[in-house]
Amino acid sequence: MTANELESTAKALVADGRGILAADESVATISKRFANLGIESTPETRRAYRQTLLTTPGISEFISGAILYDETIRQSTKEGKPFPQALEESGVIPGIKVDTGAKDLAKTQGEKVTEGLDGLKERVAEYYQLGARFAKWRAVITIGDNIPSYACLNANANALARYAAICQEGGLVPIVEPEVLMDGSHSFERCFDVTSKTLSIVFEQLRAQNVTLEHMLLKPSMIVAGKDAPRQASVSEVASATVTCYLRNVPAAVPGIVLLSGGQADQLATEHLNAMNTGANLPWKLTYSYGRALQDSALSTWAGNDANVEKAQKALYLRAKCNSAAAKGVYTKEMENS
Ligand code: G3H
Repeated sequence: MTANELESTAKALVADGRGILAADESVATISKRFANLGIESTPETRRAYRQTLLTTPGISEFISGAILYDETIRQSTKEGKPFPQALEESGVIPGIKVDTGAKDLAKTQGEKVTEGLDGLKERVAEYYQLGARFAKWRAVITIGDNIPSYACLNANANALARYAAICQEGGLVPIVEPEVLMDGSHSFERCFDVTSKTLSIVFEQLRAQNVTLEHMLLKPSMIVAGKDAPRQASVSEVASATVTCYLRNVPAAVPGIVLLSGGQADQLATEHLNAMNTGANLPWKLTYSYGRALQDSALSTWAGNDANVEKAQKALYLRAKCNSAAAKGVYTKEMENS
C-alpha cells in the first residue's frame, strides 16, 4: 500500500456525513452484552448478530467503515461470503481491532496499559490479506485520587504510537484511541484537564515514533463529568469544552476525529456530536465511531431472534442516519421519529 492509499482511506473514513461503526467487541465483552439480554453467546449467535449489523440495507450512506474483532473478520454471512468482502461490496471499509486488551500496569494504583505489540507486524500483514484497511487500538485512562499517573499516560501513549507506526508500515490506517473513562465522580473540569494532558502526551509520542499524522485518525472521549458526579454538564457545555480541548491538542494535519460514545445514552451521544458541529469551522472532520451508541437499540431489538433481523436493522439505520446528520450539524430531535 502506498502513502496515497493510506491518505485516501483516512479521508474516505471521515467523508462528509459518514462515520464508523465500532463492532469490535471481544468475545468477553459481547458475551456480557448478550447475557444482559438473555442471549446465548456462541460463535454462531455472534456471527448472526454481526451479520444483522453489517448487512443492514443502505447503511453505507452513513457508515464509511466497520471495525471488526479477530473472530468476526474470519467469519462469513449465512450465504458464505466473508464479512470483509460483504462490507467492501456494500461500500463500507473493513477495519480490525488489533490490541489484545488493557492489563494491570505494574506499580500503579490499579491503572491499565493496553497490550498487543508482540507479533503485531505479522498480524497486521495477515489482517491486510483478509481485507482490513484500517485498525484500532484502545488505551484506557482512569480518573481517580492521584491518578492518572505519568507512568500510565506515558506507557499507553508510547504503545499507541508504536502500534500506529507498525500499522502505517503495514498498510493499515491506525485509529489512535485514548479513552478517558467516564467511571467515577470526577468533575467536568477534571476531565478537561486529564484529556488535555493525555492528548498532549499521545501526540508527543506519535511524533517521536515518526507516525504520519495525515495517515491516522484520532478516537478520543468527550469532555464529560464522571457518571457519578453530582453535576452533569449541559449538551452545549460538553460540546464547547470538547472542541476547545481538541483545538488546543490535536494538530490540523490529522484528517479526522472519530468520537467514541463511552457509555453515553445513544441519543445524548448524537446531541453532543451535533452541538460540536453546529456552525463550526474546524480544522479536522469531527464524526463518530460509536459502539454502544450505534448498536444498543439494534441489539435489544434483535434479542437473539432471527425474526427480528429487519427491525434491528431499521434501528441501526435510524441511529446511523441521526449521527450522520449530527456530523454535519443538522440533526433535529424530530428525526428520531422518522
Ligand atoms: O473502543 C471502544 C469502541 O470502539 C467504541 O465503543 O462507543 O461504546 O465507547 P463505545
